[in-house]
Amino acid sequence: MSYMDTYQRALDNPEEFWAEVAQGIHWDVPFTKVLDSSNIPFYRWYPDGKLNTCYNAVDRHVENGRGEQAALIYDSPVTQTVEYITYAELKNRVAKFAGALTKLNVSKGDRVVVYMPMVPEAVIAMLACARIGAIHSVVFGGFAPKELATRINDAKPKVIVSATCGIEINRVIEYKPLLDAAIEQAIHKPDSCIILQRSQCKAGMIDGRDHDWQEVEATANVVDCVSVEATHPLYILYTSGTTGMPKGVVRDNGGHAVAMNWTMKNIYNVEPGDVYWAASDVGWVVGHSYICYAPLIYGCTSLVYEGKPVGTPDAGAFWRVIEQHKVKVLFTAPTAFRAIKRDDPEGKLIKDYNISSLATLFLAGERSDPPTLAWAEEQLKVPVIDHWWQTETGWAISANCLGLEQFPIKHGSASRPSPGYDLKILDDKGNPLPCGEMGKMAVKLPMPPGCLLTLWQKDEEFIEAYLSMHEGYYMTWDAGYIDSDGDVWVMSRLGDVINVAGHRLSTGGMEEVLASHPDVAECAVIGVADELKGQIPIGLVVLKSGAKTEHETLITQLVELIRKEIGAVASFKKAVIVDRLPKTRSGKILRGTMKKIADCEHYSIPATIDDPVILNEITEALKTIGYRSESE
Ligand code: COA
Ligand code: AMP
Repeated sequence: MSYMDTYQRALDNPEEFWAEVAQGIHWDVPFTKVLDSSNIPFYRWYPDGKLNTCYNAVDRHVENGRGEQAALIYDSPVTQTVEYITYAELKNRVAKFAGALTKLNVSKGDRVVVYMPMVPEAVIAMLACARIGAIHSVVFGGFAPKELATRINDAKPKVIVSATCGIEINRVIEYKPLLDAAIEQAIHKPDSCIILQRSQCKAGMIDGRDHDWQEVEATANVVDCVSVEATHPLYILYTSGTTGMPKGVVRDNGGHAVAMNWTMKNIYNVEPGDVYWAASDVGWVVGHSYICYAPLIYGCTSLVYEGKPVGTPDAGAFWRVIEQHKVKVLFTAPTAFRAIKRDDPEGKLIKDYNISSLATLFLAGERSDPPTLAWAEEQLKVPVIDHWWQTETGWAISANCLGLEQFPIKHGSASRPSPGYDLKILDDKGNPLPCGEMGKMAVKLPMPPGCLLTLWQKDEEFIEAYLSMHEGYYMTWDAGYIDSDGDVWVMSRLGDVINVAGHRLSTGGMEEVLASHPDVAECAVIGVADELKGQIPIGLVVLKSGAKTEHETLITQLVELIRKEIGAVASFKKAVIVDRLPKTRSGKILRGTMKKIADCEHYSIPATIDDPVILNEITEALKTIGYRSESE
């Protein structure tokens, strides 16, 4: 069926469409109702169906003859390891680890925090939770103890699963001290921790609380899949909002499994048995959906890559992996390709490898800048598809759905709305805008299966953050337009969120950290353009009168503070001290204008500015850290 027919069908008759799509999933108790709209705006898919996500991702493939196929390939250039885990082995390991969790009193509905590097055990822990109906919350390894503590306090896990270390190119990053510090800082204390002792770093265990992964797995009994309601939460994944308090996005079991399964053929155009590689991290939504769940639910082989696009050992790393494992689809963030292009601009290393297995490259996480996309196309000679999605949606809001029909690729556009998403561009009053006009990107409710149910134990905040701006719509907080062909252009982000190397971070959260320094009176953090990472944060800081710390020392302290409180992943390296910040007469800091100054973009002096002279002072200050305005 063509894209347009499919899209229209999902729009006109969503229940019929998604009931049919749901047949790709094994239901323990088939649903009789497709969509529950009795408690809007809280829509629920397949409300009376029961299933188990782990069964669909693992066990059923073993029962259907895929037992000997690799489910996971662990490729770790940083430890010189390549390991194949078949579906049969995965089933056994997951069932045992689920047994270990059960022994630690984890059962349906309990939370388990997973703070792990890119090792197969991270996926095993996630699937083991799904197996027993526990709710996992994976926290990205690059986050500092305070961020981990915030998530522990919110999710209140019974158990935390972690490892002794991660490896960043050639540096061993000890995780255990970070975990211990986070638990110490957190008000909520987990009953137990399970720690994977890696050979690169052994860690001491706390008696009575910590358990060795190998030991608990070896001694556990296998446990079977627990049937859960389709609406039962599968996981919580925290994402940056406008404040330092991250939002706990809750995903269900049923809608998620259905959507994941459908996207593999219809968006990515893969078949069961194909090798699918999302070069991301299990700590991000891309890792949840396309390292763990979707490829496995669909019966593909999924690659768990513990390495970088460059430096492990060089800019040929991705091509080596594609050749060695016959990868059919690669999915990564544009920043990875900018890094490769920077190190190997002529793509010389590609010629050393046979990458003929590669059918398509998918990019997401940030806007694909046209030069990078063109470079990737020229080097790889396969379609390069930009698709747009968010932690909240779990899968692409817009994409070139290759399994349905391929549309001509327009550099800079994220292609057409995916079936199920009634995407509208709204003006400030909530009226839909005609094509070509830029506005707020919103999805008319109900969202398709797989999107967030709510924020963890914060229904009101969920409505406030996403649904209250314009009644009947989910607000993506992105701005863009749809052109006359129906192609979607995502141009910028509304609100205080920036995108650093494909990672979504809160500038508001960073401002809270800077403001906690005793010498800081007020501050602003803005995301400025960066050739490699897309955006990076910089700070503008006003000191308290009488602040005594020497300026250079203070800047170093501020950089360290962000690293300590948020994590290295923030890539916060520069700050500048200014006498005052530009504000509107009502006191709102003009972050957007400062960003334009730093990015050398044209800006007009806001009519509401309190004192325009400050903008000259800001320009001069930004020059001292390497930014300047060429337009006045
Ligand atoms: N554990 C601990 N520290 C981590 C970490 C982890 N899991 N991941 C990153 N960090 C650290 C890095 O070592 C780095 O520290 P440094 O400032 O001391 O050098 C810092 O966090 C920033 O990391 P990163 O954003 O990865 O930047 P980088 O300069 O090391 O690498 C790229 C740049 C482009 C190669 C890298 O961002 C990348 O591979 N991106 C791929 C895209 C991707 O995964 N996107 C996810 C969404 S799809
Ligand atoms: P995250 O939830 O961390 O995945 O970040 C989601 C945000 O990243 C989106 O709301 C967009 O702002 C941005 N984003 C993701 N993919 C794209 C894309 N293909 N084009 C433009 N922006 C994107």
